[in-house]
Amino acid sequence: MEDKHMLMIPGPTPVPEKVLLSLAKHPIGHRSGDFSKVIAEINQGLKWLHQTKNEVLSLTVSGTGAMEAGMINFLSPGDRVLVGVNGKFGDRWAQIAEAFGMKTERISAEWGQPLDTEEFRTKLEADTNKEIKAVIITHSETSTGVLNDLETINKHVKAHGEALIIVDAVTSLGAYNIPIDDWGLDVVASGSQKGYMIPPGLGFVCVSDKAWAAYENSKYPRFYMDLGKYKKANAKDSSPFTPPVNLMYGLQTALQMMQREGLENIFARHQRLTKASRAAAKAMGLKLFAPDNAASTAVTAIEPAPIDAEKIRVNIRKKYDIALAGGQDHLKGKIFRIGHLGFVSDRDLLTAISCLEATVIELGADNFDPKAGVKAAAAALA
Ligand SMILES: Cc1ncc(COP(=O)(O)O)c(C=O)c1O
Repeated sequence: MEDKHMLMIPGPTPVPEKVLLSLAKHPIGHRSGDFSKVIAEINQGLKWLHQTKNEVLSLTVSGTGAMEAGMINFLSPGDRVLVGVNGKFGDRWAQIAEAFGMKTERISAEWGQPLDTEEFRTKLEADTNKEIKAVIITHSETSTGVLNDLETINKHVKAHGEALIIVDAVTSLGAYNIPIDDWGLDVVASGSQKGYMIPPGLGFVCVSDKAWAAYENSKYPRFYMDLGKYKKANAKDSSPFTPPVNLMYGLQTALQMMQREGLENIFARHQRLTKASRAAAKAMGLKLFAPDNAASTAVTAIEPAPIDAEKIRVNIRKKYDIALAGGQDHLKGKIFRIGHLGFVSDRDLLTAISCLEATVIELGADNFDPKAGVKAAAAALA
């Protein structure tokens, strides 16, 4: 059936009709007074969403662009950095650091397991000469559905005193409580096609005063990615370059919707969807890839062996027009992932679980109890 596609991937996420209609407006001049008012409202909304008084800068980049900008504005070639790697996106942080010639130390955990916070503590406590310039973490590791313990790792960083904490919150911002100012997070990167409920195209970087002080000493050459330019422009409710005007209209509308729902309710909804997805998988006898105490609220990864995970993903796409995410790299065929990030309701999740049940039955459910999924999910949502 035409135009009935349902996105249950961890980005791009579904876009509300109100936002789609805002995107369809005629663009106006980005230097006009009217557009300045849009930027001013967005900047206030971004601060609210980030729970911060810090500057939140909007760049026309994807999440990776925000990550790169979040690194090269505050560090210098040869800087020693600790990077948490327990999935595809932690590995990406390390690759960026290596590409820019930083002395990159990976603190790794098996994909599907959370980072060991003690390893960070040990390395940071041993660094009495204060050589470590930054600790770089993926909060919600989308490739495996693991939520890393950012709060504890950040406490160790604060005890060190010198290092910046740089965070990929691409799939945790707007899905999990991250009190940026209370925790004192220095650089927080995110992207529009996730909890923001708008299409891809914008990256966001939230910057603390401590990070701005480090900016003054950073030695990397940069131009488009120079966050100082964005800071100056923000102060005048403007942007250094032409922003994606229509996407900004969409962001304005999405932030209004989020403020009406309220942060507490948004976080509670994501917790509920996570609980329901995990309850459904367990009841069906499908193995969860991430442990209960480190579950991302954006995405649930499921290991359906002996059924090939790709078969589930492809079947559900073909027969029910629901997009689930597959496994990445060595996890392809091993796991599939249900996204429940952003504009996702209880009804959406129950739909996805019932179609998953039907798919598991079609593929041969000898080892599973496919009829138990919806029941368990509904009970968890109740
Ligand atoms: C945790 C995480 N970090 C970074 C990215 C990269 O974002 P992008 O593909 O927008 O560059 C993603 C995208 O899925 C992600 O989930």
